[in-house]
Amino acid sequence: MLAMNFRGPRRVRIDEKPEPEILHPQDAVVRVTRSCICGSDLHLYNGSVPDTRVGMTFGHEITGVVEEVGSEVRNLKTGDEVLVPFNIACGKCVFCQQEMYGNCHESNPEATAVGGIYGYSHTAGGYDGGQAEYVRVPYADVGPTIIPTGMDLDDAVMLTDVVPTGYQAAEMGGIQPGDTVVVFGAGPVGIMAARCAWLFGAGRVIVIDHLEYRLEFVKNYAPAEVYNYKELGDVVVFLKKTTDWLGADVCIDAVGAEATGRVMQTLLGKQLHLMGGAATALQWAINSVRKGGIVSIVGVYGPIGTLVPIGNIVNKGLTLRGNQASVKRLLPRLIEHVQNGILDPKALITHRIPLEEVSDAYRMFSAKLDNCIKPVLIPPSAVR
Ligand SMILES: NC(=O)c1ccc[n+]([C@@H]2O[C@H](COP(=O)([O-])OP(=O)(O)OC[C@H]3O[C@@H](n4cnc5c(N)ncnc54)[C@H](O)[C@@H]3O)[C@@H](O)[C@H]2O)c1
Ligand SMILES: [Zn+2]
Ligand SMILES: [Zn+2]
Repeated sequence: MLAMNFRGPRRVRIDEKPEPEILHPQDAVVRVTRSCICGSDLHLYNGSVPDTRVGMTFGHEITGVVEEVGSEVRNLKTGDEVLVPFNIACGKCVFCQQEMYGNCHESNPEATAVGGIYGYSHTAGGYDGGQAEYVRVPYADVGPTIIPTGMDLDDAVMLTDVVPTGYQAAEMGGIQPGDTVVVFGAGPVGIMAARCAWLFGAGRVIVIDHLEYRLEFVKNYAPAEVYNYKELGDVVVFLKKTTDWLGADVCIDAVGAEATGRVMQTLLGKQLHLMGGAATALQWAINSVRKGGIVSIVGVYGPIGTLVPIGNIVNKGLTLRGNQASVKRLLPRLIEHVQNGILDPKALITHRIPLEEVSDAYRMFSAKLDNCIKPVLIPPSAVR
């Protein structure tokens, strides 16, 4: 089959690979119909995630058709059309029982923090991902969800990560009616977080980025007040000034390790790899939230230590919340929101790219060329 193949930092290509097989009675094999590239893939692409092995296939935002199921699979059958949450979860461990599907204790033998994730290095279990014609889906009775009749595949694929992650970012912010919410990052995740902030009762939503085309999009889509941090001088002072010098009630980090904007963070986090990424947006979030406020972190960072202003967290009495989104927990509500037109996730998809052009797709998304917001890869075998 055709599959994306990681050859080393900033080098990915399309290759022939053996088709996946059922390795465990609870596995399924899915023929992929859509597979997105995510901001999270850029951490892998840029070489920021430890133990990202040459030969791995990335891709954790997947829709497809069930091709084959293992002997213990009860909820799926050949021919079912499914969306596959990015988390690989056993459904039974102490964390899955609490619906913390992003923190499954069984699916990732390599770590005690995150659970398994498709195509996300051996620190997330070493599973090959879905930027391919076929993918092996472990614990097939737990994650994969039948795509409701009539749902657009582009909406379905956005429900595997971007929609739940944006929603959970707003949820973890503990937004109270009338709150001022600042979202750092106008990528797909930040855009969705800004949109969802209103669902929790925000009174004012501000989005910060430096890419004008993304700010323009989220201004209309969320809708939100938008600012280009390059034009603000000191971002933190600006945000204090516009909130009566108190600070925002809730700040959301939807940027993570690839942040730009501060030389020292970029040098230590991205160029020398001495930290788990550049924590510029997180630093701005901590410094521009009000005393007693909440910082919600969905931006992804590596496992090693990262420079954050811990003194300000203590002295301002902040609450920090973060996690990988628990996709399965949120799906029932979010499927309804899409069906009722409350959320329109497919509007974020700007590029539909043949899987064969995966290396160009990464280059474009990474460099934010051609006004790209969200690219989706379509394998040649993807006939619905
Ligand atoms: N927690 C989860 O479950 C989860 C799921 C999906 C993605 N993520 C993470 O969310 C983050 C965003 O993902 P995405 O797909 O939207 O990525 P993306 O790369 O498309 O978007 C990131 C945006 O941040 C902007 N940015 C960079 N530095 C900034 C700064 N200092 N202040 C404000 N904006 C800045 C960039 O210009 C870009 O528009 C990534 O770190 C990704 O790994 C987390
Ligand atoms: Zn993703
Ligand atoms: Zn589990």
